[in-house]
Amino acid sequence: MTDSLDQALASNTPTPKAPIDPVEAIMAFDPKKHIAFEEPSGILMMKDIGFADNVGVSPVAVTQPFQLFSLEAITIMRSEIANPEVRARYQYASNIANAQLRGYAREYAPFTYAAWNHPETIAIVSKLAGIDLIPWSDYEIAHVNLSAVKTDEQAKAELTSFQARNSSIHSDEGIDVSSTDDDKPIVGWHTDSYPFVCVLMMSDCTNMVGGETALRTATGEVIRVRGPTEGCAVILQGRYITHQALRALGAKERITAVTSWRPRSPFVKDDSVLRTVRPVSDLTELYSDFAEYRLEIMEQRMRRARAELRARREAGLAFDTPGHKLFLQESAAFLTHTDHELVEEENVQRGFIETIDLPDVPVDQGAHQD
Ligand SMILES: [Fe+2]
Repeated sequence: MTDSLDQALASNTPTPKAPIDPVEAIMAFDPKKHIAFEEPSGILMMKDIGFADNVGVSPVAVTQPFQLFSLEAITIMRSEIANPEVRARYQYASNIANAQLRGYAREYAPFTYAAWNHPETIAIVSKLAGIDLIPWSDYEIAHVNLSAVKTDEQAKAELTSFQARNSSIHSDEGIDVSSTDDDKPIVGWHTDSYPFVCVLMMSDCTNMVGGETALRTATGEVIRVRGPTEGCAVILQGRYITHQALRALGAKERITAVTSWRPRSPFVKDDSVLRTVRPVSDLTELYSDFAEYRLEIMEQRMRRARAELRARREAGLAFDTPGHKLFLQESAAFLTHTDHELVEEENVQRGFIETIDLPDVPVDQGAHQD
């Protein structure tokens, strides 16, 4: 037995392999082929829009759209969400969005899952965001907003009617262009649940009008940033900046994939909440992801505090009473925050996302912030 094993190891003859599964082969994420990164034309900083240094987890507010993935990558990602089982098991609707796919990536979209977790993708997002980030959790990988598919005629009619009116703009968080009722309120000014968001466009935007992101500066002024086109993305520190995505018109469909991010370091603040996602989630999955990483952060912070405490003692220094009390108070607040976000299942109203009543500010049709 050993002899034949040795012979096999010594031999250069390749061991016969199982035939390559063509689906597997197509689905393999290859950064050389599938990342098509080009630097954004600009990045708007928090201070550019009037925020103090201590607001947020990074000095970066929002990027201009940048090419992230190749069109082949987008095609494969689209094929993964076209799977009827994904639509059947992971589709959610709410008062603010007719159709979203959430939490499917780990189980059903190996390519998409690998794309967002690839170290090169993470490095690009982190560099642009100005802080080391990681995807918020598996559950928030490539949350998809789906619009209804329109005919050419419908898309054109929408555009013509928009051009005729060219007046009020309604917000939709890039979610819903299926409604022809422009007066229906969808998502107004809001902040996101998670520190950073990366929105990837998965539709052809050739005839699309609108789709910008409007931001509120610290002084309440409104600025607009261009929306991404196919294969392109924007990164926004959405937890800290009040924003809305403006309605996009004239496209036959609009599909965006939104991946949320949080700081990699357990020593950076984590202000994540679950308010906007709880009603459209598998709570076992969402709560497990959230509770586990919050515990992991606490674990790391406690280990470090304990090591510092022991080091002080070994160095013969006095016990740092104010320092340790501050650590305990911050830890208690951190744990209370986790507790507060884990609303009992019976108290979560499925499909209803409470909106914050932020005073409206009209968005004019002026030039983009470029
Ligand atoms: Fe948002």
